[in-house]
Amino acid sequence: MPLIPCQRALFDIPPGVAYFDCAKMSPLLNRAAAAGEAGLLRKAHPWEIKAAHFFDESERVRGLFARLIGAAAGDVAIVPSVSYGMATAMGNVRVAAGQTIVTLAEDFPSTIYACRALVAREEARLVTVARPAEGEDWTEVLLDAIDGGTALVCAPHVHWVCGTRIDLEAVARRCRSVGATLILDTTQSTGALPLDLQAIDPDYLVAASYKWLLGPYSVGFLYVAPRHQQGRPLEEAWITRAGAEDFRRLTRYDEALEPDARRFDMGERSNFALLPVAGAAISQLLDWGVDSIAETLGATTAALEARLAELGAEASPSRAPHYLSVRFPHGLGDEVEARLAAAEVHVSLRGDRMRITPHLYNDEQDADRLVREIRESVAQQV
Ligand SMILES: Cc1ncc(COP(=O)(O)O)c(C=O)c1O
Repeated sequence: MPLIPCQRALFDIPPGVAYFDCAKMSPLLNRAAAAGEAGLLRKAHPWEIKAAHFFDESERVRGLFARLIGAAAGDVAIVPSVSYGMATAMGNVRVAAGQTIVTLAEDFPSTIYACRALVAREEARLVTVARPAEGEDWTEVLLDAIDGGTALVCAPHVHWVCGTRIDLEAVARRCRSVGATLILDTTQSTGALPLDLQAIDPDYLVAASYKWLLGPYSVGFLYVAPRHQQGRPLEEAWITRAGAEDFRRLTRYDEALEPDARRFDMGERSNFALLPVAGAAISQLLDWGVDSIAETLGATTAALEARLAELGAEASPSRAPHYLSVRFPHGLGDEVEARLAAAEVHVSLRGDRMRITPHLYNDEQDADRLVREIRESVAQQV
């Protein structure tokens, strides 16, 4: 598969900025930003906003996300955040007292707090899978923790701290064999790493859009497997009811919810400013192709990993192609953050790790600047 050439011209990134922090927050594509500006300004002329507009953009964007993950539009709800998606999913999970809920150590708080709330509500037991020893794999230790007493497993595709890729097909097989529910947070992978939804067949999958989906903050997506689409939504919204398109009949208060995952949409999901941004970004991702994005970012991080290894950096084993998380045996000193910021080199420092997450806008100059600044920091440590 041919690698995608540098796409920096599609973004508003000044030449002096080396941005390697997509795992924190992606920049917007210029055309997504323009779509957002136009969307925001629609509210300046509300008389031009018709009833159909509360539905058409939502449907378009829902359909785009569904295409991206290989689902049907009716399997996808529009949510504001991962925590909202988690709360929706967990509100519909059945757990008996004493059963276990399995999570990974240091998983993102939106998952952990939701699991803790469920544990408290159902008198279940939380099992936190400890970080594996250096060189061992998260998937193996996760599989070992899933047994006949497991009601629910919550896992990412890529661990947000160390970038390790979890073998979700193996995890899903184990879940199925013991009858456990599987909820995925793919915020750190959807858009940059292919996922075989049919093979994994998760019960729920949630992803925020402001990272690898190149989308806006406060828009996310919740995939709900068809077998759970009769569940209860988190809110009592009006737009998720049968016949909501007919504004003259809203006060009939029809209790019937949409027959599919649309019933889980958040209130005011028809966000005229943000949905066009999400739509423009996902359209671009579909044009590039997630396979090609993964391969291209894999080449970028492999080249960086090799250059940083010469400076002593150790990358996580089994890492995802788009996600480089490194440790330096002697550390990089407290001043590394200020040094990198002063040089306009943007990465995330998480514990003893440096998370370097590029996208198609990064070029050779960015890589050179990153390596130069880290070399200086390493030199000051010895
Ligand atoms: C793995 C993961 N999940 C979720 C989020 C965001 O969660 P929320 O949308 O609940 O703020 C992040 C943000 O860093 C993340 O890394």
